[in-house]
Formats: sequence, C-alpha cells, structure tokens
Amino acid sequence: MLRISLSDQVGIVTGAGSAYGIGRSMVLAAASAGAAVVYACDLNLAAFESLKEAVKALDTGCEVVGHRLDVSSEEQTVSLLRDILKKHGRFDFFYANAGYAVYRPLHELSSDHFMRAVEVMQKAPYLAVKYGSRAMSVTSAEKPKSKGSVVITSSCAAFAGAYADLAYTAVKKACNGIVESGSVQLASSNIRVNGIAPGCTKSSILTSSTMAESGKPYALEASEDEISKIHAKFFERGGLFADPAKYYNRAAEPEEIAHLAAFLSSDLAAAVNGQIILADSGKTTAATGEGFTGPVEAMPPFEV
Ligand SMILES: NC(=O)c1ccc[n+]([C@@H]2O[C@H](COP(=O)([O-])OP(=O)(O)OC[C@H]3O[C@@H](n4cnc5c(N)ncnc54)[C@H](O)[C@@H]3O)[C@@H](O)[C@H]2O)c1
Repeated sequence: MLRISLSDQVGIVTGAGSAYGIGRSMVLAAASAGAAVVYACDLNLAAFESLKEAVKALDTGCEVVGHRLDVSSEEQTVSLLRDILKKHGRFDFFYANAGYAVYRPLHELSSDHFMRAVEVMQKAPYLAVKYGSRAMSVTSAEKPKSKGSVVITSSCAAFAGAYADLAYTAVKKACNGIVESGSVQLASSNIRVNGIAPGCTKSSILTSSTMAESGKPYALEASEDEISKIHAKFFERGGLFADPAKYYNRAAEPEEIAHLAAFLSSDLAAAVNGQIILADSGKTTAATGEGFTGPVEAMPPFEV
C-alpha cells in the first residue's frame, strides 16, 4: 500500500495552536505518517492539550511538543532549532504555516499593519528556509546525509488580487518567491522547498486574526461550531454559496491542505521542488465562472 511516510522524523509546524486549522491538522497528519517528534508552535497554545490528546489517540508513538513561538522572531526560531538538535539530534521538516488575515481597505492600511504582515508571513518563511535548512544539514549515525523539506503556506491571494487586502496579497506573493529561490539555493543541500496556496479553507483564521496580528501570546479556543458560523458569512460574501453545485465553490477542510503538506514533506514528493501548489478546488481558474462559455451542464453519464 502506498503511504506518506515521515518515519522517525523530527519537525516543526507553525500556526498549529488553533483549535481548528491547517497547522493543527498537519500535526495530526505528520503523527499519522510516523513522525517521531513534532513541535506544534504558535502564539496561542490554548488548544494544545486537546491536540496532544488527539495525537495520543492515533497511537503512533509520536511525541508532540507545544511551543510558544512568535514566528517573526529570528532569535526564537534559531533558539528552538538549536534546542531541537540538542534534544533529538536531527531535524527533517519545517512547515512554515503561521499567518493571519485582517483585511483592510487601502485607506485604513497603515505601514505598521503592512510591516507586521511582512514580519509574520514573509520574514518567517525566509527564516524557516534559512535556519531550518541549517538544522536539516546536521548529520548523525541515524541521518548520515543532509536532507529535508520546507513547506510554506502561501495563499490563493498570491494568484489573484481580489482574494485579500494589499498587505496579505503582497506577502503571500513573496512566499512564492521564497519557495522558488529557496529551492535553488538549497539544491546542494538535498533540501526541497515547496509552497501550498490554499483557497477558502475552514479554519480559525477569521476568529483569531486580530489577536494574532498583535504578536502577543493569547488564549483562544473557539468551538468548531462558532468558527463555522463566522466563516459562513465570509464565504457567502465571497460568493461561495452563489452556486454551491459548482466544485470550485466549495471550502476545503483543513485536513485537505494538511495532507498536501504531509505529502510535500515526504519522499513521495521527491520530484516536487520549487513549486507552489494552488489548492483552491479550482476557484482561481474559474475566475469568470461561465460568463464567457455560457452555462456548462453536468456531464451526461454513460448509459450502462
Ligand atoms: N483559511 C483560509 O481560507 C486560508 C486561505 C489561504 C491561506 N491560508 C493560510 O493558511 C495558514 C494557516 O491558517 P489557518 O487558515 O489554518 O488559520 P488558523 O487561524 O487556524 O491558524 C493560523 C495560526 O497562526 C498563528 N499565528 C499568527 N501569527 C503568528 C505568529 N507571529 N507566531 C506564531 N503563530 C502565529 C495564529 O495564532 C493561528 O493559530 C495561514 O498562513 C493563512 O494565511 C488560509
């Protein structure tokens, strides 16, 4: 049976603190894929105990460590990587996923807002590539050769200007540049760098973003139900409910994005490097819907 394997590996997942989100799902996916140790990092660790329980229930022996980290801090990132190497002797995958989305019209966007977005969603992925790769280059008897994978969460906003405000769009586009250049810079180190650009995905992002943007530790454990209600309004405004029969109008579950992150982190994706995978159920390519083609009916099934 073909399966994603992160067997014996040690990694970091950032933005893993929310009760319902891509990072949390990636921790679970990595544990299911046999990872030995996963550092679940966030400003918000309120949901960490339930994550730990969920990982334990998988019974794969994965150790999950909750770690308060502001991803924009070079000092905190380097210090965490050094601690991991001291404790576990190896470092294999870095999922740079933390982010937030506070959308403002241009006249309300301040330079401080803009620069915070740069710190969290542009500088942090750069730190993951730069220092994560140095940690992945450490070898030992168990890991005789430099090797690893960095995955960065970009966004559909990097592919079309209408998905988000200017700051978010700019920094997510920059993520794509970090992926493309990073993959070349690390080619001699046997380290791959890829990105995922999710489309509308059900997560805590609309509930937590104002607190996350402040950069201070916070504690939020909103239920999936509360989160879904907030998202429903946003998805409706975005037109997702206008024609729900269309595949591209669906919202993804966080697991769907996390499974892609786990795949890209693993050797199954050995041939994939320097790529940004748009995981938006086809929404971006369907930008004008059927405006030009005219209505396209569902395909008539074969008569059998
Ligand atoms: N949900 C979507 O529709 C969607 C679409 C495209 C891209 N994304 C991206 O996916 C990633 C994950 O978001 P999600 O949707 O799972 O939301 P989420 O809110 O569930 O998770 C994001 C987490 O990042 C954390 N975070 C923010 N700033 C941080 C910092 N400075 N240091 C440490 N942690 C920090 C937040 O506290 C939060 O827990 C983000 O980068 C987001 O931009 C999400």
